[in-house]
Amino acid sequence: MSNISFDLISIFPDYFSPLKLSLIGKAEESGLVSINIHDLRDQASGVHKSVDDTPYGGGAGMVMSPEPWGKAIDQVLATSNAESHDLIILTPAGQKLTQQLASELALSEHLIFACGRYEGIDYRVTQYYENQQNVRVREVSIGDYVLGGGEVATLVIMEAVIRLIPGVLGNPESLVEESHSMPEEIVEYPNFTKPASWRGLDVPEILLSGNHALIKAWRFEQAKARTAKLDRQTGE
Ligand code: ADE
Repeated sequence: MSNISFDLISIFPDYFSPLKLSLIGKAEESGLVSINIHDLRDQASGVHKSVDDTPYGGGAGMVMSPEPWGKAIDQVLATSNAESHDLIILTPAGQKLTQQLASELALSEHLIFACGRYEGIDYRVTQYYENQQNVRVREVSIGDYVLGGGEVATLVIMEAVIRLIPGVLGNPESLVEESHSMPEEIVEYPNFTKPASWRGLDVPEILLSGNHALIKAWRFEQAKARTAKLDRQTGE
């Protein structure tokens, strides 16, 4: 049985309380994943336990200092029994999260998420761990917008990754359907459930026909129409 371990490092560990819920909560309870949360501030020194400083070269905002990050990541690496590690540094300047990246990460043994805040983490943290054996560093963004920090991005990535781990989903069939549609960049067809009539809107007859070949063809047409509508909205 695969067991992926996740270490999350942040100055706001409380951001991760939703991980106790739903699919991820169950995956942890059943031992499919283990999740450890670390407070970066525990690695800060001085009376103020400061974790940031002004940027060299000037500019607005604060940059997270390398030393607390180095200590926190070293500690996580030293206490892990994994043979290889993926260090994910959350930043809007990173590689964009896609289903493909999520499925690559789902094959990892050990994922470490470094959740920066402010103007991000001193870049030498990326450089230092890129030079370490058995650590693969990936700077990852969840989209072209700026969040207050990497915590919510980590939750998004974890949800996308954990549902791909064998044994996590009750019905793995849904993964098969998704993987068919995703690479062609076509969105999913619309879904309907009971009642058959709701507020004057009826479920399309064909879905009640029991003819699976026709239903499949109809769904494909619907998916294409939905994709075209989306492209018009986004001006693509
Ligand atoms: N930190 C701030 N914005 C982010 C984004 N879009 N993705 C990942 N981490 C971030």
